[in-house]
Amino acid sequence: MSTINLIAIDGPAASGKSTLAELIAKNLDYFFFDTGVMYRAVTLAALAQINDLDDETKVTEVANRIQIDVQAASKQDGRVMDILVDGKDVTWQIRTPEVDFNVSKVSAYAGVRKAMTEQQRRIGERGNMVMVGRDIGTVVFPDAKHKIYLEASPEERARRRFVEVQNRGESTTYEEILASIRKRDEVDSSRAVAPLKPADDAYVIDSDDKAIDIVLKEVLQILGKSVP
Ligand code: CDP
Repeated sequence: MSTINLIAIDGPAASGKSTLAELIAKNLDYFFFDTGVMYRAVTLAALAQINDLDDETKVTEVANRIQIDVQAASKQDGRVMDILVDGKDVTWQIRTPEVDFNVSKVSAYAGVRKAMTEQQRRIGERGNMVMVGRDIGTVVFPDAKHKIYLEASPEERARRRFVEVQNRGESTTYEEILASIRKRDEVDSSRAVAPLKPADDAYVIDSDDKAIDIVLKEVLQILGKSVP
């Protein structure tokens, strides 16, 4: 029985989850929460505070120690929200290739996931929320009212992420992005705790040949909302 008025959107890296979730949230006047920023924030803090990200105990200590805050965007520089770690604005620092490269390792640690899952549940209890991640429908809110699993081929996802990165003026190649996405898929899907996979009752959408407005219409229909 579905109890929480929450829309869970899961799927692999750069499948368009965040864009879709933002649009749904705007349409329904729901709060949008991207849980990936929390794992990125822990990774950034761990890179700054300890030498060895293979040291699970130390990384978990960092996850338990830092304070991650998400608040309304304070600047109009393309950000959807501000991400703060211990009060410091890290909105763009959590998007660097170095964080991309290390985030799946950090988010595979059980202690890190426990700390983040607890915070996400606290935030999600408010309801009227679109929550995005890898394990929202399977682990964080298995009783979410609606579950969407958005996928796309690695090549299409790398192409989308490449455009995004270029727009930010960063110099990464398509091949590097594709390799990083493949690596992340592998680590996210094969980890022991909360691996990336659709919930049994998730509605799965392949967005390879679908523009975002088509995906949005499809989802709003599933949610029983009128299509704009
Ligand atoms: O935006 P993108 O899809 O590239 O990644 P993200 O959603 O920001 O998530 C970054 C990484 O955090 C993922 O590759 C996962 O390793 C991890 N993550 C997770 O394990 N569980 C979540 N609920 C969200 C993200």
